[in-house]
Amino acid sequence: MDKNAPKIAIVGAGVVGLTVADILQKDLNKANITVIADKFKEDTTSSVAAGIFCPGSSFRGATLEIAHRWIEDSWYYWQDILKTPEASTAGIMELSSYVFSKEDYGVTRNSFIENLVPIYRSVQGEELKICGPDWKYGSYFTTVKIGCDRYLPWVEKRFIAKGGKIVNGKIDSFTDTSLRQYDLVFNCTGLGAKYLCNDSNIFPMRGQVIRVKAPWLKTAFFGDYDTYIIPGLDGVATLGGVRQYDTYNLKVCKHDAAAILDQCSQMLPDLKKVEIVAHKVGLRPHRVPVRVEPELIGGLKVVHCYGHGGNGVMSAPGTALNAVKIGYDFLKTNVKNKI
Ligand code: BEZ
Repeated sequence: MDKNAPKIAIVGAGVVGLTVADILQKDLNKANITVIADKFKEDTTSSVAAGIFCPGSSFRGATLEIAHRWIEDSWYYWQDILKTPEASTAGIMELSSYVFSKEDYGVTRNSFIENLVPIYRSVQGEELKICGPDWKYGSYFTTVKIGCDRYLPWVEKRFIAKGGKIVNGKIDSFTDTSLRQYDLVFNCTGLGAKYLCNDSNIFPMRGQVIRVKAPWLKTAFFGDYDTYIIPGLDGVATLGGVRQYDTYNLKVCKHDAAAILDQCSQMLPDLKKVEIVAHKVGLRPHRVPVRVEPELIGGLKVVHCYGHGGNGVMSAPGTALNAVKIGYDFLKTNVKNKI
């Protein structure tokens, strides 16, 4: 480690925090980089998400163009891992997916990925009956899925192997004296930023999912009303879901679970008899736009990277690359950098 290299902290160890940390450590291998968090791996919101690369239509940066760039950069980041022998250990897999709707043609189209993924086409005729008779509109596309059960341990290990440090701790304020030693801090705290930054533009969007054993399932399916069925690498599929705005309840709701199972088994009746592995709840950090910007807080250089909603796993790399670039420019600015 170079004594003159910048000291950088990343607050948060979900998919965004660890991806920022990994990019920094790879770029600045002599730097002093520390991840500070009080939740890791299966305790993070990232670990609840199914992690399929299929952005929601409300995903935004400061402009729509920025959101498109984040999505594109993220796609190539995941593709780069997919090409390596590490892909499976890192939880990255190729996946085909159908989106069906009985009501709205628009929900079967996705302007973020239609021109990015290898295949994105309309579904008609017999193919429209794969999940029952009443679907009016459909699309088929090829994409990737990022399983955070594997990605978070993998990327953390890679970060540590290159010299990164992990500290278990809770940051309640950017004026916390423990942060004074750092030249630059990345704020990747997800919903935690609501309190840490007193940001009234971020809200919890409660999600609940069911993990089931379905090794026979090889394709993902989306239906109306937040219904999704997403296979995983280890034969465990994720069934979802709900989107409950401004709801803080982290307990499993049996009514939500029953509705999810019912909606998903209407699409694929074989799901009625699957073994349930776990029920999970997460609070998506919903913010429009996602906040990726610098701020000088009491003399401390902070780069925010939070508020990814339900798109955090797939869009983490694009936003992380943008945040890191902002961080490098910020480091060069001549402002007082100690509290
Ligand atoms: C989802 O993508 O369904 C999700 C993401 C985070 C927490 C819960 C659900």
